[in-house]
Amino acid sequence: MSLLKAAIIGGGHIADQNHIPALKALSDQVEVVAICSRDKNKARVLADKHGIPFAFDDALEMYSSECKPDIIVNCTANNLHYPFTIQALEHDCHVLCEKPPAMSGAQAREMAELAKSKGKVLAYNFQLRQTDEYQLLRKCLETGQLGRVYHIKANFLRRRGIPGWGNFTNKSIQGGGALIDLGVHILDLALSIMDYQMPDRIVANTYDYIGKAGGKGLMGEWDPEKFEVEDSCFAHLSFPDNSSIALSSSFALNTKMQKNVNLEIFGTKAGALLNPFTLYTEFAGELTDMSFPHLEEPDIQLKNTAAFLDLCAGKPSNICNADQGAVLQEIVEKIYLSAETQS
Ligand SMILES: NC(=O)c1ccc[n+]([C@@H]2O[C@H](COP(=O)([O-])OP(=O)(O)OC[C@H]3O[C@@H](n4cnc5c(N)ncnc54)[C@H](O)[C@@H]3O)[C@@H](O)[C@H]2O)c1
Repeated sequence: MSLLKAAIIGGGHIADQNHIPALKALSDQVEVVAICSRDKNKARVLADKHGIPFAFDDALEMYSSECKPDIIVNCTANNLHYPFTIQALEHDCHVLCEKPPAMSGAQAREMAELAKSKGKVLAYNFQLRQTDEYQLLRKCLETGQLGRVYHIKANFLRRRGIPGWGNFTNKSIQGGGALIDLGVHILDLALSIMDYQMPDRIVANTYDYIGKAGGKGLMGEWDPEKFEVEDSCFAHLSFPDNSSIALSSSFALNTKMQKNVNLEIFGTKAGALLNPFTLYTEFAGELTDMSFPHLEEPDIQLKNTAAFLDLCAGKPSNICNADQGAVLQEIVEKIYLSAETQS
């Protein structure tokens, strides 16, 4: 089997720390041929660091060059996910795009439609799907141990985690705050349990009291003058089959834990907590907690990149696909709209 050729667009933190190492570890399937980033010198430095032959600052130049990628990994900022993914699909590449899928539901839907019409794979990097805990949860769901799941509490909360660097508080680059940066990860897991249905009712609230007050937290000091997004978002999603998700996300919240990333799932036969994995059920007539030992954190990026390559090869894959990404982005847009319009 010949190796697929991958190129990275956006040579920042996530490309350097996550995607390039994962692709390199899968060198029996894929070869990283190029990095394209805004600053050509920085792209060259990163390419040299990882032994990658080509460096560009212009994606069109890359497509017309000899390196001819089959795969693009889109590691640019949120507002560039749409244009670089559309361009990559138009150049007949499969795309692994970073989260969130796009800045609007319409953009993500167009990306999914183009991927379909081109016969190319578009998938999103929601790598929490690859944790051992989530895999165990899926087994419980598939074997019917939870019964019918009718409510999920989905939290991605930081107590004081407003990043003091980067674009995180810039609305035009990020598209939003805690929800679009953090909440989307746990929303993806919750939606995957609810078969990625579209809710028919959404009520949401967003806040920026802590962000606008300024301060210092675990991720440095942030500038309240440049704080344009929500520091917390709370949403209730109700589905046509009367199931529901309560989604909470925060960069900053006056709460006990520094970080709380978890799902609590309520089913007719049993409930479950994702971290540490616990089942709440009746056993021999008694209410029982079944705890599982803390599982080792596997290399979830490596597994998600492998899941992407599986999809490119037409194999079964549990990666977040283009249609799911579009549904998720449409929901994110509706959450923000509900919060903005108070309806
Ligand atoms: N899945 C995860 O857990 C996870 C974690 C961190 C970041 N991310 C996502 O990854 C994306 C990038 O995040 P990051 O932390 O690496 O950001 P970053 O700012 O470190 O990197 C972005 C890179 O894009 C480059 N860029 C900007 N404009 C460009 C252009 N026109 N052409 C080519 N390159 C351009 C920048 O120079 C920079 O190198 C974001 O969408 C973020 O949400 C996902």
